[in-house]
Amino acid sequence: MTKPYIYITRKIPEEIINPYLEQFDFKMWEKADEPVPRDILLEEAKQADGLLCMLSDNIDEELLNEACSLKIVANLAVGYDNIDVEQAKERGITVTNTPDVLTETTADLTFALLMATARRIVEADAYVQKDLWKNWAPYLLAGSDIHHKTIGIVGMGRIGEAVARRAKGFGMSILYHNRSRHIEAEKELQATYTDFDELLAASDFVVSLVPLTKDTNQLFDRDAFDKMKSSSIFINASRGATVDEDALYEALQTNQIKAAGLDVFTEEPIGANHPLVQLDNTVCLPHIGSSSEQTRTDMINLCLDNIAAVFRGEAPKTAL
Ligand code: DGY
Repeated sequence: MTKPYIYITRKIPEEIINPYLEQFDFKMWEKADEPVPRDILLEEAKQADGLLCMLSDNIDEELLNEACSLKIVANLAVGYDNIDVEQAKERGITVTNTPDVLTETTADLTFALLMATARRIVEADAYVQKDLWKNWAPYLLAGSDIHHKTIGIVGMGRIGEAVARRAKGFGMSILYHNRSRHIEAEKELQATYTDFDELLAASDFVVSLVPLTKDTNQLFDRDAFDKMKSSSIFINASRGATVDEDALYEALQTNQIKAAGLDVFTEEPIGANHPLVQLDNTVCLPHIGSSSEQTRTDMINLCLDNIAAVFRGEAPKTAL
C-alpha cells in the first residue's frame, strides 16, 4: 500500500521525521534558510496528501484549486494569515496551527523586545562595539523605565496573557483591549479592559499581539499614533500588516512617539535599507517570536502529530 505523501516546505532536522517514516513518504524543500520557490510549491502541492508549511508560504486559492489529494495543511506558526482557511475548509482540507507550545517563548521575546527598546540595549551594545565608550556620563544612553509603568496589550490571547504575567512581575499596571473580555486575566493579573483609544492614550507601552484579520489590518494607523503619548513605546510581535508602516515611520521620526520594537513587518524579509531600520529609536528583529530551539522542535512535532492524526482518521490536536 502506498503511504501518504507529505511535502515539508523547508529543510528541518531529519531526526524529527524519523519516527514517522513508516507511516509517510516525506519530501522536504532542500534549504533551511530560503523558502521553497512558488512554482515548486505549486507542483508539490498537486501531488501532496499533506503539507507542513511555513508562515512565509502562501497557501491560497490558486494552490488549493490544484491540490486535489491534499487532506491537511499543518502551519508551523500560531498565526495563519498566510492560509486561505475558508477555501481549504470548503475543499474538506484540515488546517492546523501551533498554539500553546509557543506561548511562553513568544511572550519572552515580546518582553525582551520591550526591554531592549526601552533601555536602548541594542544601541548600547553597538556603542561599546564601535569603541565609543570613553567616559561614564550621567545620561549616557539613558532610556525609559519599565517597572511600575503602564502596559497596554492589544490582543489578549494566550500570548497577551503571558506578556501580562511578565508585566505584573515588573509591577506594571496592565490595560488590555480585545474582542472579548478576559475575566480570568482581570482577576489574576489585575488587568483592566479599556477601549482601544483609551488604551492608546493611557499606555507607556502599547503592545500589538492581535492576529492579522481584515479587522486588524492597519489597525495602528496615523490616527492611533496621534493618540499615543509622546513618551510611549510601540511593540509589535504579531503581524506587520497590523501597522501602517508609513504612519509609524512618521510618528517615530517626528518624535510623536518615543520608540518602537518590531519583530514583524508588512513585507518580510526587510533589508537594511528599510526606512524603519534607518531610525535610531527603533529595534528591528527578523520575526523570531517563537524561535527558541526547544519551541521550534515542539512546533514541528505538533505539526507532525496533527498530520498523523488526520491520516488515522482522528481529530488533530490544534485544528482551526
Ligand atoms: C507565529 O507562530 O505566528 C509567530 O509569528 C512565529 O514567531
